[in-house]
Amino acid sequence: MSSLHYHTAGESHGPMLTAILEGMPSGVSIAEASINEQLKRRQGGYGRGQRMQIESDHVKVTSGIRFGKTLGSPIALQVENKDWKNWMPLMSPFGRPSAQRAVHCPRPGHADLAGGIKYDHHDLRNILERASARETTMRVAIGALVRQLLEVFDIRLYSYVRSIGDVSVLTPCPPLKKLQAFANQSPVHTYDSRAAKKMMALIDQVRKKQDSLGGTFEVIVTGVPIGLGSHVNWEKKLDALLAQSVMSLQAIKAVEIGLGVEAGRRWGSKMHDEIFFSRARGFYHKTNNAGGLTGGMTNGNPIVVRATIKPISTLYQPLRSVDVVTKRPQRATIERSDICVVPAAAVIAENIVAYTIAQVFLEKFGGDSLRELKRHYSESMKLQRYY
Ligand SMILES: Cc1cc2nc3c(=O)[nH]c(=O)nc-3n(C[C@H](O)[C@H](O)[C@H](O)COP(=O)(O)O)c2cc1C
Repeated sequence: MSSLHYHTAGESHGPMLTAILEGMPSGVSIAEASINEQLKRRQGGYGRGQRMQIESDHVKVTSGIRFGKTLGSPIALQVENKDWKNWMPLMSPFGRPSAQRAVHCPRPGHADLAGGIKYDHHDLRNILERASARETTMRVAIGALVRQLLEVFDIRLYSYVRSIGDVSVLTPCPPLKKLQAFANQSPVHTYDSRAAKKMMALIDQVRKKQDSLGGTFEVIVTGVPIGLGSHVNWEKKLDALLAQSVMSLQAIKAVEIGLGVEAGRRWGSKMHDEIFFSRARGFYHKTNNAGGLTGGMTNGNPIVVRATIKPISTLYQPLRSVDVVTKRPQRATIERSDICVVPAAAVIAENIVAYTIAQVFLEKFGGDSLRELKRHYSESMKLQRYY
């Protein structure tokens, strides 16, 4: 198992979100601005609700980093919820709850009902506050931190939106540097400007109808050495680890690696990436249908993960539900909500994937300090060259 692990805590409208990361080697340069940049990217995207206008997330590091370098000790991170001051009477850790403001009508598609029954709460706010994707703020902060370690080894992450509702990109993906520049400037985080216009028009239309939208996105990781993950046991397979981590993002309903479901339609001769060798490059593939992973291990190609996110569950024209106290039919509760979060989900997934890659990277190369890690890495790369 990897030495890298973290834990998060915090409610959507509580005072703050917290994370503790353990297992980072010492001596890694960390820029606070790079973490804040990823937090800002997470908050963007056409189709977000009012909440993201209230919050302007900034990380506060309270331990584990000194003068911009990791110490090797646990790193504690916090992000304040600016909205907390408006929610204090409803979200106080102590005192008495207000019976009038309790949430009793679970929203279809949300954690409300199953969570209420499981944890024996009739005020469903006790569930929705933690089920909310506000929690992903800390997962992005952690991803943003560990990708600064990955960058030392030239491992980079990219993402873009492939579709929103039934509108898809129509042109092939450009080279990665261009892709990131286009996607980061696009309000819907995509590279195809004609598709982007259609996506935004669709979001406007759906907003008017008080409905919501989902879509698909892709995360790409470059610079990954051969042999991260392993075929030897189910829990070491990197494709499986990536599927779990991306699926754990709220509202994700499908994760694909490489060609994904398309692989099931192809003949073997049109699917598998043939193997070549040259003195300069070593072993290589000319195609990447496998998405950089074979036998649960990186094969030297970029990792490609695609995911599908369902439409947002809170509808301003609420669906039918049942009051959990009176058991009478009622329309579902309305919580202030986004309409479409596919662009944000792509950015979050990018950072979630960064963490999973950092875990397997540290598992393979290990070391208490960056110096030690670099030595293990370069020895391993030397061995691979002589294979
Ligand atoms: C970035 C992001 C923002 C989200 N914002 C909302 C929201 O504003 N309203 C809502 O009802 N669901 C929102 N969701 C989705 C819910 O959090 C999610 O559907 C719910 O927790 C149930 O989990 P499940 O869909 O994974 O089963 C968001 C998801 C993501 C990834």
